[in-house]
Amino acid sequence: MEAARGAADKRGYVQAMFADIAPRYDLLNHLLSFNIDRGWRRRAIAALGWERAPSGLYLDLCAGTLDVAVELARQRGFAGRVVGFDFAEAMLRAGRVKAAGQPVHGVAADALALPLGGASCEGAIVAFGVRNLTDLDAGLREVARVVRPGGRFVILEFSTPPSAVVRAVYGFYSNRMLPFIGGLISGNRGAYRYLPESIARFPSAVELSDRMRAAGFTDVRWEPLTFGTVAIHVGTRG
Ligand SMILES: C[S@@+](CC[C@H](N)C(=O)[O-])C[C@H]1O[C@@H](n2cnc3c(N)ncnc32)[C@H](O)[C@@H]1O
Repeated sequence: MEAARGAADKRGYVQAMFADIAPRYDLLNHLLSFNIDRGWRRRAIAALGWERAPSGLYLDLCAGTLDVAVELARQRGFAGRVVGFDFAEAMLRAGRVKAAGQPVHGVAADALALPLGGASCEGAIVAFGVRNLTDLDAGLREVARVVRPGGRFVILEFSTPPSAVVRAVYGFYSNRMLPFIGGLISGNRGAYRYLPESIARFPSAVELSDRMRAAGFTDVRWEPLTFGTVAIHVGTRG
């Protein structure tokens, strides 16, 4: 009962928070990451293996302002469709201009209950989204349900750097500077305090790999980026 209320509280908090910061989300993303986030997303897309089925349907989960969906649709040779699911409609609306003229559709839906049949897409990708789910394992199982066997699932997410020195510098930046700058520009300091807190609570790369396997993915591997502050996980639907 307590756990169910906690999950409902977190879901409502996360949804309202992203709705609130939606108009400034892109600006802050690029500013706070020194624009490195664009390269991280491109690396994640490269791991999806969409070239094996370029006309297929792909999912961008927790799609936000559709950066990943649009970047995927723009890849040379891509001839398929991308559906970006997010439960904060304001985030999808903020990304609509970018998606104009692209085979990209933003759909308001919860990543824990996708409005899709089983094995209905060729692959799925989620950037900086799974950390926010109220039930990570349920989210991973839901992706495993909708991706066809042999299709890939890519997770791009913040991670804990292995080096103590990097952890100290990164900790100062994310705990002090990030809430300050993020709060100033978005007007929602809490949202940019939530970011380092949610990163600290998120499982290690090794544990996330285990949980992907438990959800039904095989050949799971991961790659650290930018001193281990971010990692890309890739699994194949078994
Ligand atoms: C940090 S943003 C990432 C957006 C985008 N993927 C990117 O790379 O910038 C996280 C997004 O996940 C969405 N989100 C969180 N939990 C969700 C859920 N259960 N179902 C759908 N969207 C969710 C939020 O609304 C928010 O837009």
